Amino acid sequence: MMYPEYRPRRLRLREEVRALVRETQLSVNDLIYPLFIRDGKGVREEIASMPGVYRFTVDTVIAEIKACLELGLKAFLLFGIPFQKDEVGSSAFAKEGVVQRAIKAIKDKFPEAVIITDVCLCEYTSHGHCGIIKGGEVDNDLTLEQLAKVAVSHAKAGADWVAPSDMMDGRVARIREALDEAGFPNVAIMSYAVKYCSAFYGPFREAAESAPKFGDRKSYQMDPANSREALREALMDVEEGADIIMVKPAMPYLDIIKMLRDNLHHPIAAYQVSGEYAMIKSASKLGYLEEERVLWESLISIKRAGADLIITYFAKRVAELLTK
Ligand code: PBG
Repeated sequence: MMYPEYRPRRLRLREEVRALVRETQLSVNDLIYPLFIRDGKGVREEIASMPGVYRFTVDTVIAEIKACLELGLKAFLLFGIPFQKDEVGSSAFAKEGVVQRAIKAIKDKFPEAVIITDVCLCEYTSHGHCGIIKGGEVDNDLTLEQLAKVAVSHAKAGADWVAPSDMMDGRVARIREALDEAGFPNVAIMSYAVKYCSAFYGPFREAAESAPKFGDRKSYQMDPANSREALREALMDVEEGADIIMVKPAMPYLDIIKMLRDNLHHPIAAYQVSGEYAMIKSASKLGYLEEERVLWESLISIKRAGADLIITYFAKRVAELLTK
């Protein structure tokens, strides 16, 4: 392929032509929309570090879901922010917990919605860690039992998929076993298999009031310097019964998404996290970046790397742009 016989610019001449040879497409079916739901009533408050993202209550989230479904956006990832926090995160698996009530309310009105729940303890524990503390450390095996209870309580409320984000060892197997025993063999597990200990979660911790009160998450979340470990984590979760493997964050870890795509046959999800969203939003606000083009490019790059699904705070915005 040599110039002048081959001229790659021929296929870039105009949009109609470019569209025909475009290798990667983005559709509303690729997107999952994260939603923060807090205890209380009648609240819809914007999160300071994430302009355009809100905390809802169970009653106000219904209108948001309805608007999304009308745009063809059908998948939602729910995070709970409870009034009650304690040492062991009991409100995470309470029958009348905030997420459990939200799932029921949404499913009552919109059975077609795909409801995915974040399974973790950090929003529910007084210390803000993702597990049970014993001797100043997060205890892996004690935490597994709590996580299994959380997952089953979400399934009972009507969740379609559960998404464990705690990074304890063995939790996918424990959750699968608990779901099957409780009579939920069809509830799928989207595992946060490869979750890095990332500074890009900063705005989320404000949004979900889940920053650890002491220490950090380095003893359970992955070291950003590691990639072979990502493959070990992903293979382990596949073996334990995960249905979908997630990488998080997304844009700083495109190499990891690509590596998993080349090595796994399971669907891969990538989480464009709060810090990625906040960077694009704030630079656009300052006039340094063109928001719409940058958000598009960021999502296309994540798909091009090999993700089938993208969890993004831009999901509703993209759905609007796609239907325009
Ligand atoms: C809970 C959880 C976190 C995120 C998703 N689930 C925060 C964390 O691990 O500290 C981050 C999502 C985001 O930043 O958008 N463990």
